[in-house]
Amino acid sequence: MLAGKRILLIIGGGIAAYKALDLIRRLKERGASVTPVLTRAGEEFVTPLTVGALAGEKVFRHLFDLTDEAEMGHIELSRAADLVVVAPCTADMMAKMAGGHADDLASTLLMATDKRVLIAPAMNVRMWEHPATRRNQSVLLGDGVLTVGPNEGEMACGEFGFGRMAEPLEIVAAVEAALGEGPLTGRHVLVTSGPTHEPIDPVRYIANRSSGAQGTALATALRDLGARVTFVTGPASVPPPEGVTVVKVETAREMLAAVVAALPADAAVFAAAVADWRVANAAGSKLKKDGSGKAPSLEFAENPDILATVSAIKERRPGLVVGFAAETDDVVAHATAKRARKGCDWIVANDVSPGTGIMGGSENAVTLITESGAEEWPRMAKDEVARRIATRIAEALA
Ligand code: C5P
Repeated sequence: MLAGKRILLIIGGGIAAYKALDLIRRLKERGASVTPVLTRAGEEFVTPLTVGALAGEKVFRHLFDLTDEAEMGHIELSRAADLVVVAPCTADMMAKMAGGHADDLASTLLMATDKRVLIAPAMNVRMWEHPATRRNQSVLLGDGVLTVGPNEGEMACGEFGFGRMAEPLEIVAAVEAALGEGPLTGRHVLVTSGPTHEPIDPVRYIANRSSGAQGTALATALRDLGARVTFVTGPASVPPPEGVTVVKVETAREMLAAVVAALPADAAVFAAAVADWRVANAAGSKLKKDGSGKAPSLEFAENPDILATVSAIKERRPGLVVGFAAETDDVVAHATAKRARKGCDWIVANDVSPGTGIMGGSENAVTLITESGAEEWPRMAKDEVARRIATRIAEALA
């Protein structure tokens, strides 16, 4: 709920401006008040009349509107809100923000505000991928600006890729998270992610190809719904999300210890690709060739199954335990059996057979196995999968 919260909504000039109209409605439904600011380019896409009628408030448009200055100066306008939202945020607006420009009402408000700013970028895929936009985005990130989207998909210009503005409900979730309000506010969720490294000697290890992308996306989505997230990660290749408690581990046994130490949790999601085996006779010093041509022989010991261990603990078992299963055939049968074997509540199964392009790709096709059966989800971006799982977790804990 956003009861009593005040949002200053800057509507930039892009075709996605039509979604800002729905966003106003959704924010108001949740009890927020919306003060709209329409840029000159934004007015080309939606009219001040529509925006004002939906918001039920005056629409601010020009910096040098003297009446506005008499009633409320732009400094005050920028600070009366609890959060400033820019949706759609164009490439040009991002550039202005990153450069600190203040040559119209919107950019001046963004410079003058002392509140957090959330942007929902929307632009053509090439503009989103352009080095200038990449640069601007990292500047904005460093400035503490929050971002929601863009999503991958078909665009109004007919191209396909990242650049579509996040959907209104995703923006609402990001607003709630930014204001510390969300369906998971007050909840603690544990996420494991990434591969583990099992040492052979002090310089060598056995690992796997997990990037940590899905676990990171999940932690991000859970955080955005307001959860306090403990993110226990092996040495992943993608950076951990901001705003979560990161616990870095290397081995499966360290991961288990970190997970147990992080309990209690309302929910735990085990997205890590944990090594099933470790080297039992790992050497204390670097193994050396002794010239005899004889290779060292490694002995293996089974690692603890973290998911099964946490599912089975009597005290402090999280209310909801979610495991993952990467399968290449008979996905539903294997994943259903895995759910029973591991004692977890849900299994998120994906078909990683060659040809699906899922392994290492940006999309995933998931089947959710719960006690009520198997639910096949359409193929979608991994971030979207994460948001859906996070939403389901929020519903299950409600
Ligand atoms: O048995 P399998 O590796 O296919 O099961 C995958 C699920 O179990 C994932 O959720 C993974 O994080 C978890 N797992 C674990 N500890 C292990 C092996 C797997 O938590 N040692």
